[in-house]
Amino acid sequence: MKKVAKLKRFGVSMEEELLERFDRYIEKAGYKTRSEAIRDLIRDKLVEEKFKEGKKEMIGILGIVYEHEIREVEENLVSFEHKIYKRIISTIHVHLDEHTCLEVKILKGKPSELKKIKDKIISTRGVKHGGLLITGDKEVI
Ligand code: NI
Repeated sequence: MKKVAKLKRFGVSMEEELLERFDRYIEKAGYKTRSEAIRDLIRDKLVEEKFKEGKKEMIGILGIVYEHEIREVEENLVSFEHKIYKRIISTIHVHLDEHTCLEVKILKGKPSELKKIKDKIISTRGVKHGGLLITGDKEVI
């Protein structure tokens, strides 16, 4: 049986103008209630803080786009990834068109490790674009 978290209410005061802007944002984003939007903002901030602290292992979702015909790009990526195989949980490869590949790699490691892996992979010759999303398990979010 799923354990439902106990909710606690609290009051928040803020400038009217700030609240109006917030309400416009949550409507555009599709939130049904202010509470849900505030919970997500808090989780975002806490994940950011955990990342800055750098102590706990977190999950990194690294997405990259590269041209597979550029010489040695795939060999370079694969040989680097074998060096850090313990940090890679899974990789998804999608052929976007005849020339372009998209890969999503699920990583697990300390923030400094995730950052290093991201920098190394994105700076590989042939990788045109990429980004890292940080998240984590229940302890983090
Ligand atoms: Ni491909």
